[in-house]
Amino acid sequence: MDYKSDKFFEQVLTVSMEKDRQSINIIDQTLLPGTIRRINLSTKEEIWEAIKKLRVRGAPAIGVCAAYGIALLASRIQKEDFSSFYQEFGELKNYLASSRPTAVNLFWVLNRMDSAVKKNEEKSVNEIKEILFKEAADIREEDVQISRKIGEYGFGLLKERKKEGKEIGILTHCNAGTLATAKYGTATAPMYMALEHGWAGEELHVYCDETRPLLQGARLTAFELHHAGIKVTLQCDNMASILMKSGKIDIIFVGCDRVAANGDAANKIGTSGVAILAKHYGISFYVCAPSSTIDMETPAGDKIPIEQRDGDEITKMWYKERMAPEGVDVFNPAFDVTDHSLITGIITEKGICHAPYDKAFKELGIGR
Ligand code: MRU
Repeated sequence: MDYKSDKFFEQVLTVSMEKDRQSINIIDQTLLPGTIRRINLSTKEEIWEAIKKLRVRGAPAIGVCAAYGIALLASRIQKEDFSSFYQEFGELKNYLASSRPTAVNLFWVLNRMDSAVKKNEEKSVNEIKEILFKEAADIREEDVQISRKIGEYGFGLLKERKKEGKEIGILTHCNAGTLATAKYGTATAPMYMALEHGWAGEELHVYCDETRPLLQGARLTAFELHHAGIKVTLQCDNMASILMKSGKIDIIFVGCDRVAANGDAANKIGTSGVAILAKHYGISFYVCAPSSTIDMETPAGDKIPIEQRDGDEITKMWYKERMAPEGVDVFNPAFDVTDHSLITGIITEKGICHAPYDKAFKELGIGR
């Protein structure tokens, strides 16, 4: 794989709709990096399970999968009259929405698809089904463009830090990369834009937090950046502090699953710890957030629902034998919330926001 060959993004294509529109094709992220396998999702149970089990993951990619999913499932509804169609559509929508609670893109996408149905109530059910396929394709294409814009703003921050003969140290947590979106990622978009602007992969040095317990940093971010030709070093989560202290980190980019109106940002568990360390060491900490991730209806981070996951992900999933006593209680929240006071800026496709965030979001016309 090579970023410059253009094949790179094809090979790691996260979600696409099959030509016959009978199934969604995804790269099964639970098998990476050892096995690159594409699978097809056809039934509602398969789509739900793929999101729940993180075969497809990352807020924007979950959104795209749900958009294709609801379009595909709606196309099979055998009802001719609008109200019977809409009732079944609502049930399917609620079912997909129950897969994961934190990433707001899932709900944003399903509501957008719902609006597309309601707006076209006077059209025939067959026409509405076509509109849904088109809306899902638009959501995917918009995500590509949004990531590019986030990447350009983030690249501006990298240019400010460029010094002759010195690499720029970037720390990232989890995977907010191409595997989490339709194309460029959010936290990785500035790195991909740097390559497009002719920088060599060695001008950047990306330090990936391993990201316990599901290892998205090791399995996914290190995988995609390494194959894209960007210099990558992997460290365990508890090594971020020593890295920052040693002066190796110039800037931090992370993704997010939901940003509250006051700028508090939910992202993969461990992100808030990284932000606290960054504050201590005086390192800029940026959250990369498509505006669809900014939830103006959630006033502050304490109102963001945090997904709790199975304890087996910590005690045994990655080991030959269990690594904790049978029966021990396990605390396994999938996300935490970084307080807005720890965030240097929130990079959206419309510009970089600084505190006070509610005002900055409104000024950029972000809201729903
Ligand atoms: O549980 P995951 O792997 O879906 O969590 C993903 C993250 O936390 C990402 O950082 C976030 O969704 C942003 S992806 C651009």
